[in-house]
Amino acid sequence: MRKVILATILLLPSWVFAAGAGVPLQKANTDIMDKASLQEGAKLFVNYCMGCHSLKYQRFQRTAKDLNIPEEVLKSDLMFTAEKVGEIMDIAMPADDSEKWFGITPPDLSVTARARGVDWLYTYLLSFYKDDSRALGVNNLVFKDVGMPHALWKLQGWQKPIYETTTDAEGKEHTHIASLELVEQGEMTPEEYQNSMRNLVNFLDYVGEPAKLQRLALGWKVLAFIFFFWIVAWFLKHEYWRDVYEGVWKR
Ligand code: HEC
Repeated sequence: MRKVILATILLLPSWVFAAGAGVPLQKANTDIMDKASLQEGAKLFVNYCMGCHSLKYQRFQRTAKDLNIPEEVLKSDLMFTAEKVGEIMDIAMPADDSEKWFGITPPDLSVTARARGVDWLYTYLLSFYKDDSRALGVNNLVFKDVGMPHALWKLQGWQKPIYETTTDAEGKEHTHIASLELVEQGEMTPEEYQNSMRNLVNFLDYVGEPAKLQRLALGWKVLAFIFFFWIVAWFLKHEYWRDVYEGVWKR
């Protein structure tokens, strides 16, 4: 039994690295308390992702309430598929059709940020590149042979891979992608695109655990309460012990 546990601990890092396929992830640096960023991310999501991906555990109304989005703005800017604000953020495309078109049903993204991590998601959205050998004409650095089109090519533009050849100790040559180069800029500059992806990932992180906003806000209140209670308790203790001390000195 002990050997099994030891082997598990020793092998763990290799599994973790295998998941990222050796590509270093870029830091998303998201801030879930930044409401403006979450609102921007929600807008990007409904405009560019919800044609294919649902958020089946999220209701429009909840999103609007948590993100301080007024109901009129919610209805005009975010709701294209739903009729009522209480509906879940589902999509109209039947799963059978999407499977026919893409060979795979686009997954629901409710918990993707928790499963993959925000840095992976951020890197994924920055790492689409042109690959003519693929049916959709694109590939992705962190998701090899991805079945998703580059949904944001209009904003980002197109990237091409820069290859690098290295020779290993046995004299064998290996070619791999060293970096991606923007060959055709979209509507956004690279900085604007990175910022937008940060907002989009931030929104998906919030969706993964909507209660986090309340939890974090409540956390500060609890800490503040404990701090003030500590002051009260400190004075109270002094009050009680004063009699004891005085009793001791008098004796
Ligand atoms: C045209 C349809 C389409 C659009 C639009 C689209 N996707 Fe996808 N997406 C897919 C498909 C299909 C897959 C499955 C790819 C695979 O498994 O090879 C996928 C996979 C993903 C994955 C990987 C999920 C996982 O954990 O395996 C993420 C993350 C993702 N999409 C995010 C997004 C985001 C964010 C947007 C909006 C910017 C978006 N997608 C827009 C079709 C789409």
